[in-house]
Amino acid sequence: ADRAAFIAGLPKAELHLHIEGSLEPELMFALAQRNAVAIPFASVEEVRAAYAFSNLQDFLDIYYQGMGVLHTEQDFHDLTAAYLARAHADNVRHVEIFFDPQGHTTRGVAFATVIAGITRALDEARREYGLTSKLILCFLRHLSEADADATLDEALPFLGRIDGIGLDSSEVGHPPSKFARVFARARALGLKLVAHAGEEGPPAYVREALDLLHVDRIDHGNRSLEDPALVARLASEGMTLTVCPLSNLKLCVVGDMADHPLKIMLDAGLAATVNSDDPSYFGGYVGANYQAVADALDLSKAELLALARNSFTGSFLSDADKANHL
Ligand code: HPA
Ligand code: ZN
Repeated sequence: ADRAAFIAGLPKAELHLHIEGSLEPELMFALAQRNAVAIPFASVEEVRAAYAFSNLQDFLDIYYQGMGVLHTEQDFHDLTAAYLARAHADNVRHVEIFFDPQGHTTRGVAFATVIAGITRALDEARREYGLTSKLILCFLRHLSEADADATLDEALPFLGRIDGIGLDSSEVGHPPSKFARVFARARALGLKLVAHAGEEGPPAYVREALDLLHVDRIDHGNRSLEDPALVARLASEGMTLTVCPLSNLKLCVVGDMADHPLKIMLDAGLAATVNSDDPSYFGGYVGANYQAVADALDLSKAELLALARNSFTGSFLSDADKANHL
């Protein structure tokens, strides 16, 4: 109870959150009805029962299906506003949100529609809660680099609202090297760079993200721990890892929360953070992620505070804005 109050009171930044993964079953049903889209579920309970995954791909199949109810600017607004209200309730002060435009443009939804809905909700949260945000466009790595390039072209008119690019979806077989050219292009445009690496993929993918993509953060990074020289490098470079405990459990990256490597990461000097990834699918928002991993690993208040501080230092806020949070 003491730990719960401490976690609830900690000001936090969330750095690994796929907005489409915050689509709660209730909103999925409401949007399916609003847009007359058929969904293969009879009830909210049936949807939740379908969220049993044995690996990343199991989840991705149902995640891409779920986002099919999102059509209008209002839909993207309502999705984002619901997440931001929930994050605010967890004392999240700053959020860096991923979105997957290719999951929408391939269904005929305009890039501009997605951006307009998300940014309207971000602007409202700034006014209503003082909750600040950055937006990160993720490329789907199971698609080609040419597709990613075309998506970056579509983003060019909106770079005033897009702070960075990322790389997500099916990791194994789609190494960072596949996207070296489009990341170089984004880098030249002044965008921040992140990539999912070492969730299911090997430590070599984390090395590629560092050496070939020149990323500013590693999303997940769990499998880095198999390579001690890589761990030493990540620690000495102060590289932020956006770790997602409940995601790791639900996607069987860890077998049991008691086996989660978060404490090992902290003890190795890694700049680990705690994040929710796809909270609707994985069973909890950021506060629940702190709670679950803290209970399983018996994390101290000093460790919890370090995790929360890492979330601000690893953010893409300016140094002045970071200082206001630390
Ligand atoms: N990994 C890869 N792709 C994703 C994830 C994830 O955890 N969530 C949404 N897309
Ligand atoms: Zn993710």
